[in-house]
Amino acid sequence: MWVQTLHLDNFRSYKEAHVEFAPGVNVLVGSNGQGKTNIVESIYYLATLNSHRVASENSLVKSGELSAVIRSKINQDDRALTIDIEINPGKTNRAKLNRSPVPRVRDILGIVRVIMFAPEDLALVKGDPNERRNFMDQTLIQRTPKFMGVKSDYEKVLRQRNALLKSSHRENIDSTLHVWNEQLAQLGAEITHSRIQFIRDLTPFICTRYHLISGGEKAVSASEISLTYQSKYLTEGDLESLTHNDIKEQILGQLDLRKKEEFVRGVTLVGPHRDELFIRLGVLPLKGYASHGESWSAALALRVASADVLKADGIEPILILDDVFAELDVLRRTTILELTQDAPQVFITAAVESDVPIEIGGARFHISSDSIVAHNGDSL
Ligand SMILES: Nc1ncnc2c1ncn2[C@@H]1O[C@H](COP(=O)(O)OP(=O)(O)OP(=O)(O)O)[C@@H](O)[C@H]1O
Ligand SMILES: [Mg+2]
Repeated sequence: MWVQTLHLDNFRSYKEAHVEFAPGVNVLVGSNGQGKTNIVESIYYLATLNSHRVASENSLVKSGELSAVIRSKINQDDRALTIDIEINPGKTNRAKLNRSPVPRVRDILGIVRVIMFAPEDLALVKGDPNERRNFMDQTLIQRTPKFMGVKSDYEKVLRQRNALLKSSHRENIDSTLHVWNEQLAQLGAEITHSRIQFIRDLTPFICTRYHLISGGEKAVSASEISLTYQSKYLTEGDLESLTHNDIKEQILGQLDLRKKEEFVRGVTLVGPHRDELFIRLGVLPLKGYASHGESWSAALALRVASADVLKADGIEPILILDDVFAELDVLRRTTILELTQDAPQVFITAAVESDVPIEIGGARFHISSDSIVAHNGDSL
């Protein structure tokens, strides 16, 4: 699967833009602030219905406009299909598949699959636990699109349960709380179970990728990276052997135990929204200890290893590498080069063309604020 055509209306800085991409590598070159990331962000949106940069959709729409449209032609096994998404901040978004409206926008998930690495990913390592929960959940949506439904149902239940904990109307509260607990535990167990399986599958890949990205054989002291899923409501031990039902029972048990505290604080204290993905380098936690270079390599390795997990599932994700080369030395550029070989499509952005290894080849586009021009030569 690869993106053949992209047409943007009022998306970010673009009033109107039209690009025909190639399968394999596409390199977008242009000075800072010209709109390179805006283009790859729109491709990321097609795959995730999310921006990798902002939580609110307001900034995705060109300033002064009310809505943005992303139109795309996707090549899937040599057949073309179209996905059009209209982003209406504050109102319902709409989507069309092959020109027919779909009942829910999220019905288009699963057609385009993307793994993206962007400078913002440093927060994956340095930021608060929410960043790492998002990393797991966004990758799980790429792995199994129906996970998006589970996550949004869970968030809805969480909001309603929190409202109940805060409310002063306490009549019939036990029976209402019982209903919410049941749903929270059911959906929460699904999320936790999927995350634990994902971390299990990610572990062998992250070790190899971190080693390569951090300098491989030549590294002076490449410590081993390790991942641990941390959840206060699960009994310590072998998390991987827990079934969905085991997790659900443990959530229900903890909800019972912490009921009083929850009423005092007015928030739900048990569930995957409070879990953490703990990353260690050697014996030390990555967060708070790792150097800039180590953090950067770990963040990139997490993304690359996620693509490995999808590949092992039989999914061939598009790879987006936003501004990745400026940070890499020659040795590590070679590692990335190898990565780009077997992806169905790769998008690479760079402000300076000489940062992109010449061997990477592929289609080249020059991006400036008023035009996107395809080049077939090696230099711009
Ligand atoms: N909603 C919006 N409306 C109008 N302009 C916007 C909007 N959102 C972003 N921009 C503009 O888009 C430009 C940034 O584009 P983008 O982030 O794609 O740049 P870039 O080419 O990736 O730059 P860099 O090399 O620095 O990463 C900025 O000038 C910004 O002001
Ligand atoms: Mg950029």
